[in-house]
Amino acid sequence: MKHTAITFKDAKQKGEKLSMLTAYDYTTAKLVDEAGIHAILVGDSLGMVMLGYENTCSVTMEDMIHHCAAVSRGAKQALLIADMPFMSYQTSVYDAVVNAGRLVKEGHAQAVKLEGGLEVCDHIRAIVRASIPVCAHIGLTPQSVHALGGFKVQGKGEEAAQRLLDEARAVEEAGAFAVVLECVPQALASKITQAVHIPTIGIGAGAGCDGQVLVYQDMLAMYSDMAPKFVKQYAQIGAQMKEAFAAYKKEVSEGAFPAQEHTFKMDETIIDKLY
Ligand code: KIV
Repeated sequence: MKHTAITFKDAKQKGEKLSMLTAYDYTTAKLVDEAGIHAILVGDSLGMVMLGYENTCSVTMEDMIHHCAAVSRGAKQALLIADMPFMSYQTSVYDAVVNAGRLVKEGHAQAVKLEGGLEVCDHIRAIVRASIPVCAHIGLTPQSVHALGGFKVQGKGEEAAQRLLDEARAVEEAGAFAVVLECVPQALASKITQAVHIPTIGIGAGAGCDGQVLVYQDMLAMYSDMAPKFVKQYAQIGAQMKEAFAAYKKEVSEGAFPAQEHTFKMDETIIDKLY
């Protein structure tokens, strides 16, 4: 069954937990899709885990479209959500609609995600009016890393907690079909989850959310530049890759690879005729 923004909303009503993972290329998207994950997020985290930037602020629309189009060819069942990169929507409601449209037309996304609360409600409303489903993202919003003073837990004090609750209600009212809660204390994320009718997708927000999202390189222990507390490592793929690369290097230097079974044969009398 193809997952859509509608099935996301239905899942909340039925009390079914939603799973979301990032992917940035065809091969990974196919694996995530075949594992039955509900949604694939082409996150602007690609700036860090794929392109090696320190944060997500340098990611462009062209980066997002390029990776999203690749993922779209591997995502058959999962809902495909593309992140709107920094400054592709903050500048105006018009830019927000045009760039959301590009992610759908050129990147083949089925929904877009953008960061922010009250200040982006008009943008969400306009994109939804253009028939593009929007996933909101509040709490730690990485595109605001410079304004927030780093990657920090959000909503700990009373005023900040109330603001996050108000923002969740506001993005729902603006038409978002889901909201990502990033780095929010568990008790507050649970309160927000109960207060809104759209699914909350947590990352560092505890088990009370309606679903969870992780960056796949984090959960496979492939990316070591940062190790957030909220990540569970489900496999040590980074270590396995390094081992395999080293084994390959050793066999190449020893002449053990390629072996006979990796080579092509021909009538070798032809070789004798060559001059
Ligand atoms: O860019 C991303 O991968 C994200 C997730 C961390 C939610 O926004």
